[in-house]
Amino acid sequence: MTVKKADLDFANLPFAYMKTDFNVRYTWRDGAWDAGELSDSEFIPLHMAATALHYGQECFEGLKAFETKDGEVVVFRIEENAKRMADSCRKILMAAPPEELFIEAVYRAINANRRFVPPYGSGASLYIRPLVIGTGPKVGVAPTDQYMFLVFVTPAGPYFKTGFAPVHLIVEEEVDRAASLGVGDVKVGGNYAAGMRASMAAKKAGYTEVLFLDAKEKAYIDESGPANFFGITAEGQYVTPLSPSILPSITNKSLITIAQDMGLNPLRRPIHVEEIFELAEAGCCGTAAVITPVGSITWGDRKVVYGDGRTPQPKVTELYQRLTSIQCGDAPDPHGWVRVVPEE
Ligand code: PLP
Ligand code: COI
Repeated sequence: MTVKKADLDFANLPFAYMKTDFNVRYTWRDGAWDAGELSDSEFIPLHMAATALHYGQECFEGLKAFETKDGEVVVFRIEENAKRMADSCRKILMAAPPEELFIEAVYRAINANRRFVPPYGSGASLYIRPLVIGTGPKVGVAPTDQYMFLVFVTPAGPYFKTGFAPVHLIVEEEVDRAASLGVGDVKVGGNYAAGMRASMAAKKAGYTEVLFLDAKEKAYIDESGPANFFGITAEGQYVTPLSPSILPSITNKSLITIAQDMGLNPLRRPIHVEEIFELAEAGCCGTAAVITPVGSITWGDRKVVYGDGRTPQPKVTELYQRLTSIQCGDAPDPHGWVRVVPEE
């Protein structure tokens, strides 16, 4: 069934919130999730002592839906987002939506907003934001027994407004994003609150984003504010940090497979910050960031520029093309990553 699209300039969308028709909400009470319901409200009734507000019982996910040239709507590696959300919930002692419920909720939210799925070829996608919050009241520090699982969607363009163009990073030495035995490996809101002042200061100083170091030794690269980091060595190897305090990016995991297909001999290993000067290419990757070439990295009073700093480098470009053509259904999907969203 074809739907009349919303009257939007889909090709020029920012990465920003926009009201759509519906979101879907499920409640956990008495030890079980309810059947959920669609809502056309952008607001949620919330107890003022909810654990989400006081003790950070909150986690979220991010994934995208694309329209293919045949007019189908597809999502990328949704099972991985379901698993990671369950990991996030478990780590901060929240009720976790089972995989089937996660998928059902995402499909319901997409189906209720099909007119907002950007058309094939627009370069935009429907960004899907599932979240779980502790809604029950607590004043003592302890998990609640009431949760809300909500999914909203918003049509969106690239996270970095320049799209597929080099960004400029600065190594962050004053602020830690996540402790090594903390919650940096799950997608909880507190990690973003912790990194926000570093990102804002970097932007004010003219950089696109920060590159966080590991909090323990302050010597190894962790990740950027909204995305993982990877490099291509002079020998043509895809390398990406191995660290207990970075988010296990589904995009990065996919790029490791694609890099294998390209013969780039991918490897996760600790990457000392000094190594930025030896890399041939560098990139950031994530659902929102897709693959973003890194044009330069500043570390204290030193700076490395990749290529001319303005033109995407060849391997990063090939990774981008391979990934995005699988995601929007233009290329075969040899690894079984893409799911067609069934119409209701
Ligand atoms: N790292 C951080 C801190 C992120 O917020 C994200 C985005 O989700 C990523 C990495 C990339 O993860 P993914 O590729 O699963 O979107
Ligand atoms: C995503 O890529 O989906 C994220 O959640 C990153 C966020 C900082 C926009």
